[in-house]
Amino acid sequence: MNFKLLISEKEISEKVAVLAAEIDTVLRDDEVVVIGVLKGALFFMADLLRKMKTKVVYDFIQAKSYEGMETTGKIKILKEPNTDFTGKTVLIVEDILDTGITLSQIKSYFEERKAKKVYICTLLNKRKRRISDIDADFTGFEIEDHFVVGYGLDYDEKMRELKDIYIVKQC
Ligand code: IMP
Ligand code: MG
Repeated sequence: MNFKLLISEKEISEKVAVLAAEIDTVLRDDEVVVIGVLKGALFFMADLLRKMKTKVVYDFIQAKSYEGMETTGKIKILKEPNTDFTGKTVLIVEDILDTGITLSQIKSYFEERKAKKVYICTLLNKRKRRISDIDADFTGFEIEDHFVVGYGLDYDEKMRELKDIYIVKQC
């Protein structure tokens, strides 16, 4: 296996600042709950929140795909947030939007709990892989259909702690 640099730490940091400013413009006057999707969103969410000026509270959700998820489209929630979402603006922060199956169900989770509005912010977007009809409101980078690691993204739970984002190549 080898790695090819796709997005550097510096590029990530510059993009996070741009996203934070965009989000501030849209959410400034709302009562906002930021929800990080575990485990991949950890570093992105921490950096984003510290660049945003909007006052927020934050919590986490963790979901797992069932076997054969791509056909049934069912996910299991492993960790539920402990927050009342009634009338709140929710901002879901995710590392990567791929088929969209996970995020479309996570979005419904908050809509069912009477959130006023649910926004999605994803650092990476693999638009060509989409199965569910869902898009992000705030997107960092559009990428091709590569498997990527680093800055929270894993290969078998490893390499999340890398500062840059790399394409994994099987050899
Ligand atoms: P989706 O339901 O297919 O959109 O799944 C999104 C989830 O799949 C992300 O939150 C990641 O955990 C994982 N994922 C998708 N693509 C990659 C990748 O290139 N590297 C690491 N994880 C990925
Ligand atoms: Mg993830």
